[in-house]
Amino acid sequence: MSKIKPSKGAPYARILGVGGYRPTRVVPNEVILEKIDSSDEWIRSRSGIETRHWAGPEETVAAMSVEASGKALADAGIDASRIGAVVVSTVSHFSQTPAIATEIADRLGTDRAAAFDISAGCAGFGYGLTLAKGMIVEGSAEYVLVIGVERLSDLTDLEDRATAFLFGDGAGAVVVGPSQEPAIGPTVWGSEGDKAETIKQTVSWDRFRIGDVSELPLDSEGNVKFPAITQEGQAVFRWAVFEMAKVAQQALDAAGISPDDLDVFIPHQANVRIIDSMVKTLKLPEHVTVARDIRTTGNTSAASIPLAMERLLATGDAKSGDTALVIGFGAGLVYAATVVTLP
Ligand SMILES: CC(C)(COP(=O)(O)OP(=O)(O)OC[C@H]1O[C@@H](n2cnc3c(N)ncnc32)[C@H](O)[C@@H]1OP(=O)(O)O)[C@@H](O)C(=O)NCCC(=O)NCCS
Repeated sequence: MSKIKPSKGAPYARILGVGGYRPTRVVPNEVILEKIDSSDEWIRSRSGIETRHWAGPEETVAAMSVEASGKALADAGIDASRIGAVVVSTVSHFSQTPAIATEIADRLGTDRAAAFDISAGCAGFGYGLTLAKGMIVEGSAEYVLVIGVERLSDLTDLEDRATAFLFGDGAGAVVVGPSQEPAIGPTVWGSEGDKAETIKQTVSWDRFRIGDVSELPLDSEGNVKFPAITQEGQAVFRWAVFEMAKVAQQALDAAGISPDDLDVFIPHQANVRIIDSMVKTLKLPEHVTVARDIRTTGNTSAASIPLAMERLLATGDAKSGDTALVIGFGAGLVYAATVVTLP
């Protein structure tokens, strides 16, 4: 017989507030075209992207996270001192240790909240949300801040025509807290490490450090290139279109929701053609609002879902209490999908 008292949490969890930060610099396709042989028309028609935001020197991973989190806290009406844990999903924080979450927790004025980073690529928001829900229901935190933040411009090879136009920078945050009714459905998540090579860093940090130029990619002037994200576009595209629609359907089934019951669809913003294809495969009815934030935000990886969520609510295209399907997928390969009630 165990002597340990059971932990006491809330019956359910919900998203209480959302906030986003988009860097001030807006970068149109024309700027991308300075370094690659492409066209505005090709980029728009093949990806849907018209502009993206690139962070300036002051718009660090921490600074953008603090801005987005401040808005999410205000939206939720929760003081930072009540946050029990800060979960940050990012692949573009350049210090191996400590986690950036601790600095963010401190700058926000939390009361020594638990704080840690996770690395789950473009599924990071769903992974963080799932952890937050677990903590709240289990009782180790009453309120949890989940942040998705990226400065992917730091990891983009502007001479690589397969990726130069895709990525953007920004931060999105949600406050997750207790609920008397289910407001975050079961998560359908997983990984397919056999496909790890399809999205990866061009050169690992240790190989970059050794600096053997015979092994390292060089730029057009013969200088060693800084590591960047590279991908097999077509393979990832096919995987996203065929496999992720199934995962999205499983999340609907797990939540006991039919496409007719949905108000909003917020998929990871990777490519507008992937989004359109999922809408078709899932047979989402006309009344479902679909996030196409990619047009002016690009792919911001872990930040893309909360940024899109914030914008839909800010523009009035979605409203508080709406039922939304969210699905993230990317490097790993990893994925996470769930149905949530919007804050
Ligand atoms: C990157 C992506 C937009 C490219 O679109 P695509 O239709 O697959 O393009 P392809 O790579 O098949 O290339 C098609 C043609 O366009 C050309 N092309 C590639 N990049 C180009 C560019 N930037 N501008 C102009 N032409 C380009 C190719 O050379 C090819 O020409 P060819 O038919 O003469 O050989 C698309 O593959 C994609 O979005 N992939 C998934 C991205 C994703 O979800 N990533 C997840 C990360 S989280």
